[in-house]
Parts: sequence; structure tokens; C-alpha cells
Amino acid sequence: MKIVTLTLNPALDKSSSTERMIPEHKLRCSAMRIDAGGGGINVSKGIRKLDGESIAVFPSGGHNGRLIESLLGEAGIQTSIVEVPDETRENISITETSTNQQFRFTLPGTELTESQADACLDLIEKIKPEYLVASGSLPPGLSEHYFEKIAHFAKKIGARFILDTSGKPLQSAADEGVFLLKPNLNELSALVGVEKLEMDKVDDAALELIGQGKCEVVVVSLGAQGCLLATADGFEHIPAPTVKKQSTVGAGDSMVAGMVWALSQGRPYREMAQLGVACGTAATMNSGTELFHADDARRLYEWIRKYGKRYRFTDF
Ligand SMILES: Nc1ncnc2c1ncn2[C@@H]1O[C@H](COP(=O)(O)OP(=O)(O)OP(=O)(O)O)[C@@H](O)[C@H]1O
Ligand SMILES: [Mg+2]
Repeated sequence: MKIVTLTLNPALDKSSSTERMIPEHKLRCSAMRIDAGGGGINVSKGIRKLDGESIAVFPSGGHNGRLIESLLGEAGIQTSIVEVPDETRENISITETSTNQQFRFTLPGTELTESQADACLDLIEKIKPEYLVASGSLPPGLSEHYFEKIAHFAKKIGARFILDTSGKPLQSAADEGVFLLKPNLNELSALVGVEKLEMDKVDDAALELIGQGKCEVVVVSLGAQGCLLATADGFEHIPAPTVKKQSTVGAGDSMVAGMVWALSQGRPYREMAQLGVACGTAATMNSGTELFHADDARRLYEWIRKYGKRYRFTDF
């Protein structure tokens, strides 16, 4: 089954480290590491780690864009790009080694016009994927309703749309209706219109989304507590194993990667969510922007399958 990931706001992630962040001083840094980044691109990288295939669709501009394309090519990930004149953005992250704190500088996204974004949809229509995954923010220049347009487009081309984003763009796409949503607690609260959700209200909120036709499947990610899977058939909590946490950067995208890979293999929703938690939690075991190691994810998945059922939230 074909999977396409769409990243409308890609980035070249640059990371380095220094012993201490001191203003005004010249800070000696380690060699710069560069990675292709942005929500959908991360999902493609995660799928590749599981030996799966996907096509990463994104607007690509200037040197940074070309660098992202070649990094993905070297990783064995297919790309299909819309060339744009403006340089693709870059983000910089510096780890302070004495404290293990990460300083993340996110630069403004490259402006994208609606017709450039539509050109990405034209590429996708030709690929005819079974699964279309969009993750991350919308770039400046696009309307907050652009994911809603994609939700409509996905229905038209018969693709199952999996969306992981936040704020108004998430809300408007959910109003149009998508196949799967992966909100965290804050995003779920916003979706059901409450300030803050208590743990014992998460299942009701998730089922409300399904009842309202906003999605067929919802996986609410709960950080160290795993996730809540809900469909029209009911809900289930899937716990996350306890691991030594390094950095949670990329946990959400790793989780989505595990889920869409499982779906493309025809696995049932429970296994999809279990593998999602395994990949998300495996991502927290690595420092910086590194996603997850496949062997960690497989080990955690076995743990969840074996012991997961014995663990329940006391609140549920
Ligand atoms: N501290 C943690 N310990 C174990 N697993 C974790 C932890 N934080 C995140 N995870 C795993 O990663 C998954 C996704 O994390 P989370 O709920 O934080 O998503 P998110 O807020 O969308 O993250 P992101 O900032 O990447 O978008 C969780 O369901 C869980 O499996
Ligand atoms: Mg997230």
C-alpha cells in the first residue's frame, strides 16, 4: 500500500553542542550535524527505519531544499518535490553538554503560495496513495484552512488522511472530517473546546470526536502514559514502558510513523497504536533530533504486547 507524507513546512535541521551557553563569549561548538526535518519528512524517516516505504512530498527551495532532497535520497527515501524560488528554512539546535539542555532556534518558515501547495496536491493525485500523512505546521502564506482543503482532497482521491497538527488548522480539518487524528492532550482539549482536560475525561472527549464524525480513529498521545485509542467500537488505553528519557523531540512523528506503517501492513488498530507507542517511546531514548532505533521500537512493542494489558490507569 502506498504511503505519501506531505510536509508543507520542511526544514533543514542543524544541530551542534557546546559545553556552556554563555552570552557574549565565543562558544566553541562540536561539528554541525545536518538532518532533513519537518513533520511529514520525519514520518517518512521513521517508516524507513521500520523497513517500510513512503514518498515524501514537499516544496523545496535553494541549497537547503536540495540538501534535504539528497539527505533523504541517501537514506533510501523517495521524494517528489515542487521546486520553489525561496530558500527552504533551517532550524538550529544547540545542546549545552554540561546540563544536557537543548536550545532550539526555530526560524520563520519559507512562504508558500496556495498554488505552490496545490502543486504538491497535484503530485499526490498522480501517485494515488492509500495513506496520506500530513504532520507539522502550515508555512506562512497559506490559509489556516489549508488542511481542511487537503481533507476534502483526500476523500476525492480515496486516500485515508492522517493528520497531526495543532490549533485552528487542526480544528478546521477535523470539521471537514479525516481518517485518523493523533492529538496530544492540549490538542484534544482544543478540539473539544475545553480549557484543560482531566485524565478521566480523555475517553469521553475522544469518543465525542468520533461521534461528531471528525475522524474514524483517534489516538490521543499521553506522553509517558502512552496513548488512548478510540474508534466507533470503543476505546483502549495503551501504556508506555518506562525508559531512560533523553529527549522527547520527534516522539510524536515517530509514533505516527509506527502507526501508518502498521496500517499499511494491514494490522488491526490495537497493534497500530501499540507500535505507535513503541516507536514514540523508543524516540525518547535518543538525544537531540534523532528519531528511534528500530530494535528499541521492536523490543518495546513486544513489552507492550506482553505486559501492557496488566497496566491500567487508576483514573480510567
Ligand atoms: N516521557 C516519555 N516516556 C515514555 N514515552 C514517551 C514519553 N514522552 C513521549 N512518549 C511516547 O511518545 C508518544 C508521543 O508523545 P507525546 O504524547 O508527547 O506527543 P506530542 O506532544 O505530539 O509530541 P511532539 O512534541 O513530538 O509533537 C507517546 O504516546 C509515548 O509513546
Ligand atoms: Mg505532536
